[in-house]
Amino acid sequence: MLLYLFIALIGVNALYNDPYNFRFSIGGYKFDSIYVSWSTKLPYDSKPLIKYGVDENNLNMISYGESISYVDSSINHHVLINFPYDDTKYYFFSVGNEYSNYTVQKIHSPLISKSYNPTIAIYGDMGIENVDDTIKLLKSREYDLFIHIGDISYADDKGIEIGNNKDLYENTYDIFLNNVEKFSNNTPYMICPGNHDVTCHSITDLGCESGLKNFGAFNSRFKMPSLESNGVKNMWYSFDFHNIHFISINTETDFDGAPTNPYTFFGGGSGGNFGNQIEWLINDLEKANKNRNKIPWIIVYGHRPMYDKNIVDWPFLTKYNIRKVFEPIFIKYNVNIYIAGHIHAYERNHPIIDGNIDLQNGIYHIVCGSPGNQEKIDKGVLFNHKYTAFYNYDDYGFGELVIHNDTILEWNFYLSKNGNKNDTVFIHNKLISKN
Ligand SMILES: [Fe+2]
Repeated sequence: MLLYLFIALIGVNALYNDPYNFRFSIGGYKFDSIYVSWSTKLPYDSKPLIKYGVDENNLNMISYGESISYVDSSINHHVLINFPYDDTKYYFFSVGNEYSNYTVQKIHSPLISKSYNPTIAIYGDMGIENVDDTIKLLKSREYDLFIHIGDISYADDKGIEIGNNKDLYENTYDIFLNNVEKFSNNTPYMICPGNHDVTCHSITDLGCESGLKNFGAFNSRFKMPSLESNGVKNMWYSFDFHNIHFISINTETDFDGAPTNPYTFFGGGSGGNFGNQIEWLINDLEKANKNRNKIPWIIVYGHRPMYDKNIVDWPFLTKYNIRKVFEPIFIKYNVNIYIAGHIHAYERNHPIIDGNIDLQNGIYHIVCGSPGNQEKIDKGVLFNHKYTAFYNYDDYGFGELVIHNDTILEWNFYLSKNGNKNDTVFIHNKLISKN
């Protein structure tokens, strides 16, 4: 009898502890590795592991990782795996620990690029409402990488009651990741911190569980390559993807005039003290610039823009603070493009230096925050700046970057409602064109 009870309990436990919400991210400074992440409701009693291989029936490689928990209902497992063959598009894997292993799945290797132009989907500010058209379109197009520039899921907008919405918050985040799993075709999904990622409630962190404060969920549910790029958690990091060096900055904390600091009360409450972001950024750019003959493009993304049409800016003057701190560094190191979200609209600017159009040496500033969320499209009061090249403050959509070669990148903005291209520009690499 006891034996039956034991077997029944193990069975229920295994069922309850099924892995869910698979997500992937570029794992290293070189793109021959990927972090595979998943969640379970209960902790494992040994290290999480992945068995993987090119043959579905022979998962002959194995990798161990770590488990991170920030609230008792969400255990997140992260394992780094390597892709030894650059001619294999899909690998198969199963996850679990040394006592149980589940579900063989497929994963898209990031190495494959020889037969086509790698294509990247880019947007900020995606929630779980008003996203059906966007998700359908993203799913129908084959992407090699996704970049979500902050404000992940809008779980913090859910609770009416301040501080008492943990279950709602967690549930919304799960639904969001479930959506990502459906449309991302097992492809790396990179994230960066936004103002909606600070804590359990968008108004303040008063009463939030301690694990949910100061980017708790954001830093536990995902694993970005900060270890490999000397960054900090998911707060800032960099990685190479084909011929682009991508840098993810943090426009929320840890710079002069940051909108969130240890004393902030409103707008997600207190946060920060992750380290010296600016010193890291300069070091990373120094290194990337020395490697420019091999990786000629540098693209930075961060949640908040420094140039946009919208008059709304909370806390007041934040975009000017970001411009003051980050723009001189971007100019010094010849960054090609800065892409942001935060404004729930689309905007592409002419190349800019210090507020002036400079077609030869300027940086392209793009705002791309309208894939859909419960706060809908930003209407706001719009300034007419001379540097605005194109804008759309009416429709849902997302950005797409197509890598042609070391000299030319193609940037598109797609409308979610009909899949039409709404904006296209070919960006020339200023370093190479100067030679
Ligand atoms: Fe935002």
